Amino acid sequence: MVRASCVATGMVWRLVWSTRRGGADHVKGRAQRSPGSTRRRRRQCDARGVRVPVGTDYVVTDDPDAIDRDRLFGWLSSDAYWWSGGLDRAVFETALEHSICFSVRTIDDEFVGFGRMVTDRASFAYWADVYVDLAHRGRGLGQALTGVAIDHPALATCRRVLLATRDAHEVYARHGFVPLADPSIFMEISRPEAAAGRTRTP
Ligand SMILES: CC(C)(COP(=O)(O)OP(=O)(O)OC[C@H]1O[C@@H](n2cnc3c(N)ncnc32)[C@H](O)[C@@H]1OP(=O)(O)O)[C@@H](O)C(=O)NCCC(=O)NCCS
Repeated sequence: MVRASCVATGMVWRLVWSTRRGGADHVKGRAQRSPGSTRRRRRQCDARGVRVPVGTDYVVTDDPDAIDRDRLFGWLSSDAYWWSGGLDRAVFETALEHSICFSVRTIDDEFVGFGRMVTDRASFAYWADVYVDLAHRGRGLGQALTGVAIDHPALATCRRVLLATRDAHEVYARHGFVPLADPSIFMEISRPEAAAGRTRTP
């Protein structure tokens, strides 16, 4: 199944949308695959290579090196409510390492937005930690991030993509997210303290 994702990642692919403000059409993300070592294939499955302009001022990319980790950690451990229980730096780093991460950078190369897909790259994905810097909100970046993420080749065979939001439903509805058809079939274990590095006592 992972191989299937890699094949998809190896295709030259195109995403097109118009940003609300800029109205610009876009674009081309390119990821090329050639036969190689296991290590090389793994890096490709980690989905480097997507780079999608948003208007004329921003780019969304899945390059892990595009993440300003200190800035992102500041966002997620301060006013982004999902981590209000506290976020341990090591937990944060591990979460990034095991996700497909999407960054928004300005043309001046400032890191201004983020979201990550928690996924097996085959059947399931969860869209998480979406954050746009306050000064850059309302310019279509939250939607652009979401559009690039759900159209990502590594998720081509995913039959379900979930997310949780308290009040930004409209941002995601524009990309096809709808309320759960049957919430009664879902269950959860909630352990907010675990992300703060506090493990459960037996
Ligand atoms: C939610 C968030 C990512 C949206 O980013 P953004 O770049 O401002 O969003 P966009 O510009 O792409 O879209 C905004 C549109 O969605 C609408 N919207 C609905 N609920 C919204 C919400 N809670 N926050 C922002 N926009 C919302 C806006 O009214 C706007 O509509 P318009 O295009 O008709 O004016 C950003 O506000 C943010 O980082 N918030 C703090 C962290 C957070 O709440 N993350 C979401 C966790 S699920």
